[in-house]
Amino acid sequence: MDIKVTSTAPEKQTNACLVVPLHAGSKLSGTAALINDLSGNAITRALKRGDAKTDIGESLMLFELDKINSDRVLLIGAGQTSKSTKPQFRNLCAEIASALKKSGSALAIIHLEKSVFATDEDAAWHARTLAQILVDSQYEFNGHSKEKKAAIRLKKTIFVVSEKNSRACSAAAKQGVAIANGQAMARDLGNLAANICTPVYLAKQAQSLAKTNSKFTTKILTEAQMAKLGMGAFLSVSQGSRQEARLICMEYRGADKKKKPTVLLGKGVTFDTGGISIKGSASMDEMKFDMCGAASVFGAMQAISELSPKCNVIGVVAAAENMPDGDASRPGDVVTTLSGQTVEILNTDAEGRLVLCDSLTYVERYKPAAVIDIATLTGACVVALGKVCTAVMSNDAKLANTLYEAGQTTGDLVWELPLWDEYQTQLDSNFADMANIGGSPAGAITAGCFLSRYAKNFRWAHLDIAGVAWKGGQQKGSTGRPVSLLMEYVLNHA
Ligand code: BES
Ligand code: MN
Ligand code: ZN
Repeated sequence: MDIKVTSTAPEKQTNACLVVPLHAGSKLSGTAALINDLSGNAITRALKRGDAKTDIGESLMLFELDKINSDRVLLIGAGQTSKSTKPQFRNLCAEIASALKKSGSALAIIHLEKSVFATDEDAAWHARTLAQILVDSQYEFNGHSKEKKAAIRLKKTIFVVSEKNSRACSAAAKQGVAIANGQAMARDLGNLAANICTPVYLAKQAQSLAKTNSKFTTKILTEAQMAKLGMGAFLSVSQGSRQEARLICMEYRGADKKKKPTVLLGKGVTFDTGGISIKGSASMDEMKFDMCGAASVFGAMQAISELSPKCNVIGVVAAAENMPDGDASRPGDVVTTLSGQTVEILNTDAEGRLVLCDSLTYVERYKPAAVIDIATLTGACVVALGKVCTAVMSNDAKLANTLYEAGQTTGDLVWELPLWDEYQTQLDSNFADMANIGGSPAGAITAGCFLSRYAKNFRWAHLDIAGVAWKGGQQKGSTGRPVSLLMEYVLNHA
């Protein structure tokens, strides 16, 4: 879908759907008041009849109103307050998106400022948020079907804003669209079956992404190259699989060479059976989503490619498949990591940290300003925080807080877990420098503690997205989280 921002009213368009938020209260305001007056009180009459309601989640489509050029007017409940909080505004956007999706309109017009819900000072935030939610809500997965799903009818949305906000809003809407496109890429990769979305497939995706922007280059390490470097932990994960592992580096240089890059490192376990410490079969299919951290890195790089921001970002994907096999790692095996530290693999299902620890050591060569890893790392994270937020753990309080704030701005929520030394002893091993598991108490934290031992030489944050990266049940599918969180960080801090 196209989004256009203008400051001149496009009401002459007859085939459009005008979106009109309705706030509770005795008097109509903004666009609602305007349309009501023009149409001879069509809105107040609909309210009186009880057909239109002001509660969030209510919507009513009116057709062919007197003196209104647009064929359709979509009344959308906007709740109590005229100045909504960020979460309220996001809900409103989602309602608008779903009502538009159900309607037959190809063109929507939304008066951002006159609609009361957008205030002047953060007009750009409103434009970006609405654009992102509108585009994301149109996502459909088409990857495996012979027949494409019915095409979405909404082709274009016009935001009307005041002249003084028009430049800022149009840049912001562009960001919103790019972020939603990045989310779509992340969702597509997550949803693809693991027999198709292999480490080598991901490497090919990186190469084609690099072709979309001349500031991109890719470096892809094969198993032989990783072995030569000494990435013993990483390779121990893929050694039981017929699929070759890859370390995929997508380098985007949009700023001066001297500016230190931000590294985004994603766990790309394309399927996680657990290995010899095999998982139960119930819902094991969902372990195709164990590369959603990697998918979010691809999504962010896609959005970056579209926006060409002035920053340096290295997207790194640690891609491997975790399978049981005659060659697979055994519980009790000891491997030497790229850092030189040795690890006793007490559980082959704690494989994410094994691919990530060597990748963390590897990215030191980029002399990063900060490294953010993104991983569906632990079931324990889902127990601790549910499916609402990502867990952040960091060796830098400011970085953790920046990510928390980015969560508040985007709605891609984040909550911090502590990485106190007291937890580190749970990783003690009798046979190596550390074990790869820390027992069941605080499982998300001990996974973070494990990674922290490989992140001593840079500012680092670990995002455990096990709860948020995909949905199960009837709505099974990848969410595209936390692409918007990463982009908020990249656009403001990289
Ligand atoms: N990919 C899983 C984590 C996971 C499980 C995410 C279920 C979302 C839903 C990870 O590789 C894993 O298996 N972790 C183990 C660690 C344990 C062996 C210490 C887990 O969480 O059980
Ligand atoms: Mn596992
Ligand atoms: Zn895993």
